[in-house]
Amino acid sequence: MARTVWDSTVGKKTVMAVSGLIMLLYLVAHMIGNLKIFFGAGEFNHYAHWLRTVGEPFMHYEWTLWLVRVVLVVAVTAHAVSAYQLSRRDIKARPSKYVHRKARASYATRTMRWGGVILALFIVWHLLDLTTGTVHSGGFETGKPYQNVVDTFSTWYGNVIYIVAMLAVGLHIRHGFWSAAQTLGAGGRTRDRALKTTANALALLLTAGFLAVPVGVMTGVVS
Ligand code: HEM
Repeated sequence: MARTVWDSTVGKKTVMAVSGLIMLLYLVAHMIGNLKIFFGAGEFNHYAHWLRTVGEPFMHYEWTLWLVRVVLVVAVTAHAVSAYQLSRRDIKARPSKYVHRKARASYATRTMRWGGVILALFIVWHLLDLTTGTVHSGGFETGKPYQNVVDTFSTWYGNVIYIVAMLAVGLHIRHGFWSAAQTLGAGGRTRDRALKTTANALALLLTAGFLAVPVGVMTGVVS
């Protein structure tokens, strides 16, 4: 039964929709958390520490964080694998051998594919930059995310990488949220307008909220 659902196109789209919504929830929380940087180093670093002690004493140090990490890894993997398989299906089903002009995927589909690849690369860079410090520009210090973030946005390439990624996040969510709603059956004549407005608002809010941090550092509001 599970196998049949997974093998179907609708099954894969449902996996994409649900995993996408899980990641969207994480992003909203992450964006709001990031804005604490405007309240100063003390509050931001304290918040980062709290992320590791959530649920104590029932949960041990970092257990909740690890739970969130596992859910995210499962969501990212499920999202990427089904996206890849749906793309392969789409390409195979195209009758391009029989027509002169190659049938191309729609603009939205192409943007989603490229956007997805850009975001996957960004996540790897971001973890190496601000979680492990491997590619960090300054002297990375665990437990001092305020200074680490300021260092990242004090280099031109840090700003370029994050700004491009944040724009990709916005575009991806704009179309992704809409697609997920259609897959999960939330669409309909009267609701489509409201869904489009929600998708646009969410995309704009997340992009602006995330962009506020590099802009804050570049303008010296955060230093
Ligand atoms: C300007 C934008 C962003 C800033 C300033 C930022 C900042 C940070 C910081 C400081 C950390 C480390 C937190 C800690 O260790 O306490 C972090 C972790 C993380 N960020 Fe971001 N982030 C941004 C955008 C994003 C985006 C767009 C995504 C996803 C597409 C993302 C996904 C993650 C993930 C998965 C982690 C690892 C969480 C963990 O397991 O510890 N971030 N971010």
